[in-house]
Amino acid sequence: MPKTVLVTGGAGFIGSHTCVELLQHGYDVVVVDDHSNSSPRALERIAKVAGTPLAAVYGIDVRDRRALSSVFAAHRFDAVIHFAAKKAVGESVEIPLEYYDINVGGTTALLAAMHEHGVHRLVFSSSCSIYGNATEVPLTEQSPAGPTNPYARTKLLCEEILDDACRRLPELSVLALRYFNPVGAHPSGLLGEDPHGVPNNVMPYVAQVAAGRLPRLSVFGNDYPTPDGTGIRDYIHVVDVAEGHRTALEHLGDENGMRVFNLGTGVGSSVLDLVAAFSEASGRQIPYEITGRRPGDVAELVADPSAVARAWNWATTRDLATMCRDAWRFQELNPTGYGA
Ligand code: UFG
Repeated sequence: MPKTVLVTGGAGFIGSHTCVELLQHGYDVVVVDDHSNSSPRALERIAKVAGTPLAAVYGIDVRDRRALSSVFAAHRFDAVIHFAAKKAVGESVEIPLEYYDINVGGTTALLAAMHEHGVHRLVFSSSCSIYGNATEVPLTEQSPAGPTNPYARTKLLCEEILDDACRRLPELSVLALRYFNPVGAHPSGLLGEDPHGVPNNVMPYVAQVAAGRLPRLSVFGNDYPTPDGTGIRDYIHVVDVAEGHRTALEHLGDENGMRVFNLGTGVGSSVLDLVAAFSEASGRQIPYEITGRRPGDVAELVADPSAVARAWNWATTRDLATMCRDAWRFQELNPTGYGA
C-alpha cells in the first residue's frame, strides 16, 4: 500500500522539490498551500517532473482549523511534512506579529488537526537560524540556541511546542530538520525558487542580477570576522533537502518522541564565494556593492552534518557549483519565474 503524506506549503520552493521526491518514490501526496508566497503553476510542474499527479491539492491557510480538519477527514495520512511558513529574516524584523501568527499559529493548528484525526508522525521545517550568533562552528544539534530575529524565534518556539507535545503524547514521532541555506533548483529546470517580488535571499537575488532583471547585488556587510568580511553560510542543494525529507519520513517509525537534526553540507561559503561560483556557472558578471549589515544577520552558520549521517547513513551529494548551475538553468528557462 502506498503511504499517504500531507505536505503543507507543497507549492513552495522546498515543498515542491520534496513533493517530486515523494511521488518518485511511490508516495501518495496531498498538498495544502495558500499560495501566499508560491505559484499554483508549481503544482503542474511537480506532476510533470515526477511523471505522476498529486493525489489532491487544497488552497487553504493551515490556520483555518475547520478547513484543515476537513482535509484530514478526507484522507488517511500516514505522516505530515510541515513547510508552510514565512521565512524572510529582514521581513520578520518589520512584521514580527505576522511571523508569530503564521509560523507558530500554523504549527499549533496543524498539531490540533493531527491529534483530532489520529495522525502521529510529523517532519517539521526548522532552521539553522535558531543557533543565532554561533560562538563556534560547525554547529551540532547540541550547540546553544540564541535566535537573533523574530523568524528564528518562531522556529525555536515551534520546536519547543513540538517537544512539549511529544512529552504529553507518547504516540507522537516528530523530526525537526534544521536546514541551513537551501538553494539551487531541480536539474530539469522546471522547478526552482520563485519568490514573490524582490527576493530576500541571496541566491535568487544573484540569479536575477545575472539575468539583468536587477542591476546589482547589495552585499550586506564586509566587516564580519570572516576571511573576506562577508557572511558565511552552509548552502545546501534543494534536491538534497528534498531527499533528506524522504529519508526522514522513512525514519519517523524508528522511535517516538522529538528528535532534531541539522540538514547541511558542512561546507561554508561567503557571499563573495557565492558571487564567484554563480558568475562561473552563468558566464555572467555579477555586479555588486558593499552596503551596511542587515538587521538580525550573523557572521557564520555552518552545519556539523554528522548526526544525520550516523542516524540515517545519509549525506548531501551536491556542491556549490551544482547549486549555482541548477539555479541558473531555472532562471534562464523561466526568466520571470512561474509567472510568465
Ligand atoms: N545577503 C546579501 N545580500 C542579499 C541577501 C543576502 O549579502 O541581498 C547575505 C546575507 O547577509 C547572508 C547571506 O547572504 O550573509 C545569506 O542570506 P539569505 O537571506 O540568503 O539567508 P539567511 O542566512 O538569512 O537565512 C535565511 C533563514 C534560513 C533560510 C534561508 C533561506 O535564516 O532559515 O534564509 O531561506 F534557510
